Amino acid sequence: MSLELTAAAPTAPDDVDGGVWLECIECGETFAPFEDIRYTCDDCDGLLEVRYDDPPTFDEFEGRGVWRYNAALPFEEGVSLPEGATPLHRVPRLEKAIDVENLRVKHEGMNPTGSFKDRGMTVGVRVAKELGVGRLACASTGNTSAALAAYGARAGLETLVLLPAGKVAAGKIAQAALHDARILEVDGNFDACLDIVQELAEQGEVYLLNSLNPFRLEGQKTIGLEILEEFHADYDTYPDRIVLPVGNAGNTAALYKCFRELVQAGALDPEDVPKLTGVQAEGAAPMVEAVENGADEVRRWDEVETIATAIRIGNPVNAPKALPGIRNTGGTAVSVSDEEITAAQRALAKEGVGVEPASAASVAGLKKLRDRGDVDADENVVCLTTGHLLKDPDAAFEAGNEPEPVANDTGAVLDLIEGDASPSRGRLRRLLPF
Ligand code: F0G
Repeated sequence: MSLELTAAAPTAPDDVDGGVWLECIECGETFAPFEDIRYTCDDCDGLLEVRYDDPPTFDEFEGRGVWRYNAALPFEEGVSLPEGATPLHRVPRLEKAIDVENLRVKHEGMNPTGSFKDRGMTVGVRVAKELGVGRLACASTGNTSAALAAYGARAGLETLVLLPAGKVAAGKIAQAALHDARILEVDGNFDACLDIVQELAEQGEVYLLNSLNPFRLEGQKTIGLEILEEFHADYDTYPDRIVLPVGNAGNTAALYKCFRELVQAGALDPEDVPKLTGVQAEGAAPMVEAVENGADEVRRWDEVETIATAIRIGNPVNAPKALPGIRNTGGTAVSVSDEEITAAQRALAKEGVGVEPASAASVAGLKKLRDRGDVDADENVVCLTTGHLLKDPDAAFEAGNEPEPVANDTGAVLDLIEGDASPSRGRLRRLLPF
């Protein structure tokens, strides 16, 4: 089956030029990439993947950011702001508290619009230009819409975003608004928004740039390439495990594709492939349910709720690509409560790493798996933090210290900072275990 970790490198179909094509992961049907617009297989409606007849090796990469990896992408360059080259933070206190050998945090919140979505958009919007489409669209829990609006603006294209009304963090709507997207707030959750955008795309009204679009995932693959290169440079080995938040499971699918292509090129030993470990919020955990039950299909959850609104998703469309990724790398999936997410968000903040709640799910999940003994103390782990703290200012206010009013007077300020009658919420939190 084509999604095996050790599948042979693909060979280009006879009718495809340029060494790049689309292939259905279910039935294997192939399509030329830039002649017609399609998101799924014409024959069986399966998900599509971008294929190359020449998988990349590490010595082909030069430059910085996403386009450093153009040997692994369908174009030499894209619509760029630029994106990628995000920090792989050391977090020594967190590493000690969680008790693993090495813990690094790949902070994708440091991309131009504050989330990993920029990596997908730099490629996806480049493809939109190649196809000559007029209007770009996405459904979004917020970050995709911010990235699409910015990259669409950069490319001079019209953008339309559908958001679940009342469930998108303020920073993200502000970005979509200022970058000139048309914003429609739908009386329904993310999954309902995606159903509508898919219908609009099928009717030819819009070009869909959700992660169902296989080109988005090509850009997101570069997260994996950056992690492997930097981790290897620092430790002369690859991480044993990569832990990431899961919503639509696009990133999980993209990282798995990254590893498969390197294995196909002979650039990475299958033994060295990191275990993909997905984390969802308890109130929106269909992938975790499928992994725990050993199911091949993911059951759609109609009711979803979590403080981590970015991953408030009940129907992960990339599950058919992501489930094999988790299983074939020996990874797992775990769900965490909103309280665990907030505790992890504070723990990251104390290391100077400011993230939105969904991002902190990765660290919360790692802690839970380590406490349970499902992750060993001798593991080298990378946690992905997917979005910046300022994306969700309300959640940050809730999780952080409360501002204290004080008179316009130095004495009053001294009284307040020296007195311990009303310790700030931050001081109380130092007593927390994590
Ligand atoms: N973390 C953040 C901050 C996100 O915004 C998302 C997805 C995820 C994790 C999950 O990633 O879908 O690849 O599993 N946000 C999408 C959006 C759905 O519309 O912004 P995934």
